[in-house]
Amino acid sequence: MALKLSDIKKNKEVLAAIRESDKALEILGYTEHGLRHLDVVSDRAQEIAKSIGMIEREIELSGMAAFCHDMGNFMGRTKHHYWAAILFRQIFGGAIEPDEMVTVMQAIANHDKEEMKFTNKVSAVLVIADKSDVHQSRVRNQPIEQTMMDIHDRVNYAVTDSSIKVDRKEKTITLALTINTDLVSIIEYFEIFTERMSYCRKAAEYLGYKFSLVMNDFKLS
Ligand SMILES: [Fe+2]
Ligand SMILES: [Fe+2]
Repeated sequence: MALKLSDIKKNKEVLAAIRESDKALEILGYTEHGLRHLDVVSDRAQEIAKSIGMIEREIELSGMAAFCHDMGNFMGRTKHHYWAAILFRQIFGGAIEPDEMVTVMQAIANHDKEEMKFTNKVSAVLVIADKSDVHQSRVRNQPIEQTMMDIHDRVNYAVTDSSIKVDRKEKTITLALTINTDLVSIIEYFEIFTERMSYCRKAAEYLGYKFSLVMNDFKLS
């Protein structure tokens, strides 16, 4: 019963849910939430989990939760975290140990809650990986005038490079962003991402780390 991330990435129901979810979010005017986002978040979650010394199976569970976290959006945006968690249970029930199942379900259900609570490391790692995925490539193909009209699109579009670094000795998790300040001011960035960054801080604290943000080589927190 050792379900693997590679099984999930090939699962036709998962892939259909991801496709449909990204389509729904495109219609609703959201940034990219498809395979690009899920691969980035899944890779990033595993990287963070590995860097902070989580055991191998926990690293894999982090990647699994991350890959599936947004697949419930096609059933509705506001509760998409719950839909995705239940869907995971419906698709993979019986294919994974019960303890692992509930860990993954909790991590998925928690990732976009207002009253976000961390009860396991997998959920904390997922939140940092998800909330830190700000990048130009998330903006959908559209005329540049349209991109510049929407603040979320504009802020994402201005981010040309984004990376996460974990320092196990100093106990810090750093998100380093390169921002084109001709397109967006640092103030505007904060207007949009203060909430996201506070989730990252909370998640890092749960892991025993300090979260810091570096923008254009300037340490902001
Ligand atoms: Fe989400
Ligand atoms: Fe996401």
